[in-house]
Amino acid sequence: MASFVIAVDGPAASGKGTIATRLGRELGLPVLDTGLLYRAVGVLTAQAGGNPDDEAAAGATATRLTADLLADPALRTRTAGELASRVAVHRKVRERLLGFQRTFAAQPGGAVLDGRDIGTVICPDAPAKLYVTATPEIRAERRWKQLEGQGEAVAYADVLADIRRRDARDGARDAAPMVAAPDATLLDTTEMTIEQAADAARRIVEAARARWERSH
Ligand code: CDP
Repeated sequence: MASFVIAVDGPAASGKGTIATRLGRELGLPVLDTGLLYRAVGVLTAQAGGNPDDEAAAGATATRLTADLLADPALRTRTAGELASRVAVHRKVRERLLGFQRTFAAQPGGAVLDGRDIGTVICPDAPAKLYVTATPEIRAERRWKQLEGQGEAVAYADVLADIRRRDARDGARDAAPMVAAPDATLLDTTEMTIEQAADAARRIVEAARARWERSH
């Protein structure tokens, strides 16, 4: 039986990570935050003295990446998010991270993956696809609170500028640009609490699962 893959895509701080984590917990499925892969490549490239904008340097780091490197809290910082978005434009980096993501998705019981290109490139046949959005202002507010909670003091205006810059870079790149898959269900969380967003996501996934079970 094919595995039940849930693709959760969307821009920074849209709520996709929390939604993916909750879906995984409720359905008993493993969850992969694919942003961590790009964050790790960005941080490790910079740490090694390489230039994140250089495809060869970032690509070499992507080849060396192992799963045990993904738990580092340093990957959650604002700097790491920016580095991630810079290395994520490189085709070589994306190609080298593809196998790991597809293997994760192919686990027998199914899996939840959140990112930017899960429903379009990594798992185009996923039976459940969500594209989670919210306005840049609301997303900046959420990210600002999260960074504060992590002890990273930063001005709201700077976080908003980060988010806008990242949206523009992620959406404009040639390699797997951030875009909703044509068959993804759009979930705008601007006016929702995280509880409401998670409930809405669960209903979308339940409907997708019922359709998938009928056809398998
Ligand atoms: O949590 P947040 O949405 O801020 O970031 P993330 O999901 O950890 O992703 C960080 C960066 O990695 C994004 O801005 C993208 O440039 C890149 N990324 C990507 O290109 N493809 C993915 N599947 C996941 C992340």
